[in-house]
This record gives sequence, C-alpha cells and structure tokens, in this order.
Amino acid sequence: MIKVTDHSAIYIGDAIEQLSRLIGSDKRVIAITDENVAKYHAALVEQFEHIVVPAGEAAKSLACAEQLYVELIERQADRSTLLLAIGGGVVTDLTGFVAATYMRGLHFGFVPTTLLAMVDAAIGGKNGVNLNRYKNMVGTFRQPDFVVCDVSMLQTLSDRDFRSGLAEVIKAAVIADSQLFEKLEHSTFEQLRCDAELLQSCVEAAMRVKVEVVRADEFESGLRRVLNLGHTVAHAIEQQTSDYTHGEAVAIGMAEMCRVALRHSLIMEQDALKIVALIEHLGFNTAMPVSMDDALRVMLADKKREGDTLHLILPTSISGVKDVKVACKELSEFLGIL
Ligand SMILES: NC(=O)c1ccc[n+]([C@@H]2O[C@H](COP(=O)([O-])OP(=O)(O)OC[C@H]3O[C@@H](n4cnc5c(N)ncnc54)[C@H](O)[C@@H]3O)[C@@H](O)[C@H]2O)c1
Ligand SMILES: [Zn+2]
Repeated sequence: MIKVTDHSAIYIGDAIEQLSRLIGSDKRVIAITDENVAKYHAALVEQFEHIVVPAGEAAKSLACAEQLYVELIERQADRSTLLLAIGGGVVTDLTGFVAATYMRGLHFGFVPTTLLAMVDAAIGGKNGVNLNRYKNMVGTFRQPDFVVCDVSMLQTLSDRDFRSGLAEVIKAAVIADSQLFEKLEHSTFEQLRCDAELLQSCVEAAMRVKVEVVRADEFESGLRRVLNLGHTVAHAIEQQTSDYTHGEAVAIGMAEMCRVALRHSLIMEQDALKIVALIEHLGFNTAMPVSMDDALRVMLADKKREGDTLHLILPTSISGVKDVKVACKELSEFLGIL
C-alpha cells in the first residue's frame, strides 16, 4: 500500500481481491468504463452497476461529462454513491472530474487498466476534460479514495499502448530512481510485457516517484513541474502530427531534453547517452519528427508558459532533473535552433 494523502491510498499486488473490502459492503457503487474495457474485462465490470462511455480521447469532454451527470441523476445517485473508474486515463480523468463536481463531490476510486493510467493518470488527484482542442483545460484537484492496481489487466493492452505507458515509467526513473533505471536497462520490452513480477516492481517504483512529487506539491505550485520532463516537446509533436502516441512523443521529448542538457553541460555525456540508449532499447524512436522551428512556435503558446519565461525540465544525471527557466526570446538559442 502506498499512502498518497491521509485519505487516499494506492493498492498494488493482490489488490483486486481487496476491491470489495475497500468499497465496503453497504456502499452503492456505479462503475464507469469504456467500450473496450467493458469487453476485455467484462467479469470485473459486470460485478457492478455500470455506465459505458465511448473509447478514446473524445470522451474526455464536457458533453460526455454532462451525459454522465444526467445518467447519475436518473439512477438517483447521491452523495453516498461511490463512482468507480475502470479504464485508462480517459476514463479516470472523466470519472474523477464528474465525481468531484456532481452534487459538489462524491467519493470515487480508480482501477486503472492501462500502464499510463497506473503510473500517471490515476495518481495525483488532477482530473479534467478537454475543451474543444484545448487539452485538460477544465478540471479539478481531488484525490480518489483508492487506486487499485492489478498489472494482469495490462495483458489485453496493445503493444503500442503498453509501450506508450513505458515512456512514463522511463520518465519516472530519469526523474528520481536510478534502481528503476537500471532494472529497465536490464529488461527487454518482451520481458516487461510477460513477466508480471518484473512489471509490477517497475510500476510500483514509477508510482512511488509520482506519489513523492505529488505529496510534496499536491496543488501544483512548482515542484510538480518535474513530471513534465519531455512533455513540452511532446505536446509540440502531438500538435503537429497525429502519428505519435503520447508516450512516443514523450520519449522523443526526453531524448531531446538530453541533447539540450548536454549542449549546456548540465549532464555528463555518458549519462545523456545512457538515457537515450534506454529509450531506444525499449523500442522508441528518438528522432525529432517535426522541425524545431515548428515545435518552438507551439512551445511558445504553451499554457504552462509563465509570462515571458518557460520552464524546461532537463536531466542532470540518469536519475536527476533540473527545472530551468528560459526567457522565451532566448528559447531558440537555448534549444540550439540556429
Ligand atoms: N490526470 C492526470 O494526471 C493525467 C496524467 C497523464 C495522462 N492523463 C490523461 O490520460 C489520457 C490517456 O490515458 P490512456 O493512454 O490510458 O488512454 P485511454 O484511456 O484512451 O486508453 C487507451 C486505449 O486502451 C484501451 N484500453 C484501456 N484499458 C485496456 C485494457 N486493459 N486492455 C485493452 N484495451 C484497453 C482504451 O479503450 C483505449 O482505446 C489522456 O487523456 C491524458 O490527458 C492524465
Ligand atoms: Zn505524459
């Protein structure tokens, strides 16, 4: 068990058996899931009264949240009802947002079913929906009562979605966990897919990195920014092309930050090369697919920009990062775009 706050904890291992204990026998539960998870994990989903939303990012919308509010009213859900998200980051974000706002807040729990949701989206209490093309622009801070994490649920995930989540595991290692970094270096993609014990130890380590950061900065006043390693460039890639999953874009973003850190002598060459090698070892491409000029334009429009400066998280060792504030007008020079 990993405690996140006094009222929120993560359970991993034989946790799925603990689900009914965590919920409590007298609690009314409404599960929210998506079409794919309802199909692949029917035995779990059908234990509960449940609502199925369409699969994919489009479900993370105010329209979908509104439909859920109406469903909840029609089902006479009240403040004693617990909402249980069973799904990937789309389902946990949508459910967390609806739970935090319906009748001014219901209790909720998460059963993340993608690697990305386990190590990232389900942790931290930040949940939200997209507004047109603006990602995560409407949201809430509220911790789930519990997150129940069973890596066997990942067996049905596609290789591409699995790998996408691995980028966030690598990110956690580079932020703060050299042991995790070494474990990943000594594992192949196939071993991580098939060896449940190995996978669970990596998931748990990555979760702990995020939990530590969240505990130190629950409401994102600054420190939590380290979790954005690779994400500024990733968002630029995601804006320019739809050929890359989020994790694939983050992998490229992290490699790019290694190159930038190296250029500014913030990291030793052997460490930078090791990080890029690990990213490639787990099957990611690290070449920038869009021009840095185009990326720069998107970066300057980033919502995380702070006035005339932008924070870039740069690796300083195989498990350490630094938050570097760069003036927007110096960004192209800093990134090495001539
Ligand atoms: N709240 C946060 O702090 C936070 C952090 C990171 C990401 N996110 C959000 O998470 C979302 C991405 O999450 P995601 O990658 O899990 O996407 P997702 O929820 O869309 O899941 C990816 C795909 O896998 C399917 N799926 C889910 N579980 C499965 C399983 N066990 N077997 C087979 N298929 C399965 C889904 O139906 C979907 O098609 C984004 O919207 C992102 O903004 C939020
Ligand atoms: Zn991410």
